[in-house]
Amino acid sequence: MQQKKEISKAVISRLPRYYRYLGELMEEGVERISSKELSLLMNVTASQIRQDLNNFGGFGQQGYGYNVKFLYREIAKILGIDRQHNLIIIGAGNLGQAIANYTNFEKRGFLLKGMFDVNPRLVGLEIRGVKIMPVDELEDFLRHNEVQIAALTLPKSKAPAVADRLVSCGIKAIWNFAHIDLQVPDDVVVENVHLSESLMRLSYRATNLQERMQKEKTADR
Ligand code: NAI
Repeated sequence: MQQKKEISKAVISRLPRYYRYLGELMEEGVERISSKELSLLMNVTASQIRQDLNNFGGFGQQGYGYNVKFLYREIAKILGIDRQHNLIIIGAGNLGQAIANYTNFEKRGFLLKGMFDVNPRLVGLEIRGVKIMPVDELEDFLRHNEVQIAALTLPKSKAPAVADRLVSCGIKAIWNFAHIDLQVPDDVVVENVHLSESLMRLSYRATNLQERMQKEKTADR
């Protein structure tokens, strides 16, 4: 039997992009694609694609390219999105509601099952059929409902205590938007999403680009 290899974080971080492109190819009715064609489409080298996909036993056949549907399904399995994940959101303010209103997550198998907040003015409101509940009811809700992922979209000062409560209830995956590093046991995974960090990286690249172009201009004179 083939031994399951440890896949590097860098490869894992590239898989959702492969998945997205393969999904689009499938919609266009493309059945097979070579690493070269995929590389042109995705603007990465063909050797990078071959190396990445070889991690999973290589789904490509020399001369035939990759079977798009098969590869799409295999990547879904690796990412664990071949099954349904039930999701709750803690903090039903601007960001929490924006996430709840984004229908595309459902298409990927992430189903919103509940939203929680402390604000009595929000409690009882419905976002796309999901009621906002008082956060006091969190434990009771988790006792009676299967939930795999909890999104934290509440103030950072409140995030650690809520994360502890979630962990006590058996939640193993936290999608953390609060700007704080959470301390969790080893059997719990946290994915931090920080738009401001992404914006700072963009600012760095834009600033460097400007400086480089300025230098080139001066050198040309
Ligand atoms: P918001 O103020 O609109 O919403 C926060 C909600 O959390 C409020 O409805 C509030 O009543 C609720 N809340 C407070 N304490 C709570 C508790 N103990 N349990 C349950 N709910 C509680 O704020 P917004 O704009 O939605 O931002 C939410 C969080 O996400 C903030 O921490 C903010 O810094 C962060 N954020 C992160 C981004 C990112 O890229 N990671 C982007 C935007 C915001």
